[in-house]
Amino acid sequence: MILDIPTPRVFAPFLQPHRYKAAFGGRGSGKSHHFAEDIVEAAVRRQGLRVVCVREVQKTLKESAKRLIEDKITVHGLWPMFGGKPRMDHIVTPGGGVVLFQGMQDHTAESIKSLEGFDVAWVEEAQTLSARSLEFLRPTIRKPGSELWFSWNPRNANDPVDLFFRGLQPPDNAAVIKVNYSDNPFFPAELEDERRHDAKTNRDRYAHIWLGEYEPTAIGAIWDRQTIHANRRHERPEIRRIVVSVDPAVSSDVGSDEHGIIAAGLGEDQRGYVLDDTSLRGTPRQWAERAIATYDKWDADAIVVERNQGGDMVKHTLQSIRAEMPIVEVVATRGKHVRAEPVAALYSMGRMSHVGTFPQLEDQMCQMTAGGYEGHGSPDRVDALVWAMTELFPDIISVKSSVDWSIDAGSGGSWLSG
Ligand SMILES: Nc1ncnc2c1ncn2[C@@H]1O[C@H](COP(=O)(O)OP(=O)(O)OP(=O)(O)O)[C@@H](O)[C@H]1O
Ligand SMILES: [Mg+2]
Repeated sequence: MILDIPTPRVFAPFLQPHRYKAAFGGRGSGKSHHFAEDIVEAAVRRQGLRVVCVREVQKTLKESAKRLIEDKITVHGLWPMFGGKPRMDHIVTPGGGVVLFQGMQDHTAESIKSLEGFDVAWVEEAQTLSARSLEFLRPTIRKPGSELWFSWNPRNANDPVDLFFRGLQPPDNAAVIKVNYSDNPFFPAELEDERRHDAKTNRDRYAHIWLGEYEPTAIGAIWDRQTIHANRRHERPEIRRIVVSVDPAVSSDVGSDEHGIIAAGLGEDQRGYVLDDTSLRGTPRQWAERAIATYDKWDADAIVVERNQGGDMVKHTLQSIRAEMPIVEVVATRGKHVRAEPVAALYSMGRMSHVGTFPQLEDQMCQMTAGGYEGHGSPDRVDALVWAMTELFPDIISVKSSVDWSIDAGSGGSWLSG
């Protein structure tokens, strides 16, 4: 071998040829660096190597692995073999080959054929790869001895890449490995600090972020990831009415529960939109200031609080900072999951969208079951979401049914004061 790049032990299965090489796991495990080095090494070994680095969506080259691969060429002093210098949108490989960077969503069934002569396709961030893209790509990469490489941080067992490699019938001739930070001999001190911080403060997400586990979802959860993902919007639609809701934690001790603060709106289309999650830990003054700042940021109509528990205290805390603050009090049934269920039903009916991604709120939602909350601490963000929806959808949420979903208000469910 011309190059002698040492391979972390965990990647040893990739030293042999395989039709599929798949590495999944948590942050900082060395997946991207490993495949970038493999490309450089393979290009040096095989003249004219053609590689395509794809991801589901690639808006700019900055999102791609181009820079990482170029850095590897620099570190090993190989530019004389790689066309002499970096190029705008591709990398020249020894013997007239190339490395290209593309987004699968820019391809059609026709255009994808341009990749038929490629030796390697590396799918980065493969957790976001659609079933369509996977279906396009597999038969396209067809040159004798060609390989498909995948790297990803798993989200959900139903994502196409997880179904393909980790489902009931994984493909033949696949080397599939799980890698984590502890397998990375180069794991940098900066990431170690981040990891420790999450281990202390972000327990629900820790296993997902750092250990490559799926995003936390309880069995029997009343919300599901797919519905949330499927209805997600990236642009804010026309909104008729916006409220900010607050669910303050009882105690403000360090390490105690968070104060849930959510901004949500009712669209012109009669659908609900979650716009912001500005929850925090802190003193009553801190949550009240944060809630009011969120109210100002979204130019909201009111702040929604729950009336049952310390309603007056919550109202007074807000009004001690801004006396004229419009406050709506809602009343809900006691059981957390019982009051959450009608809101979950709005999601199932396709009447709710998150504008952007709210990982901690979404984790809490997917750990609410009919038997209670299965995450750590208390689901304050979900409670705040429930208050907001109770105000925005009074008719739906106060409907009496055999399950007592009701908020106990006969009159539309809310009071405006302040
Ligand atoms: N072969 C290597 N040479 C030098 N540094 C490396 C190497 N592999 C990993 N590292 C170091 O470890 C860090 C994490 O590696 P990398 O970015 O490849 O992980 P990853 O699994 O792709 O993580 P993420 O899920 O965050 O994308 C890098 O930022 C780099 O500091
Ligand atoms: Mg990476």
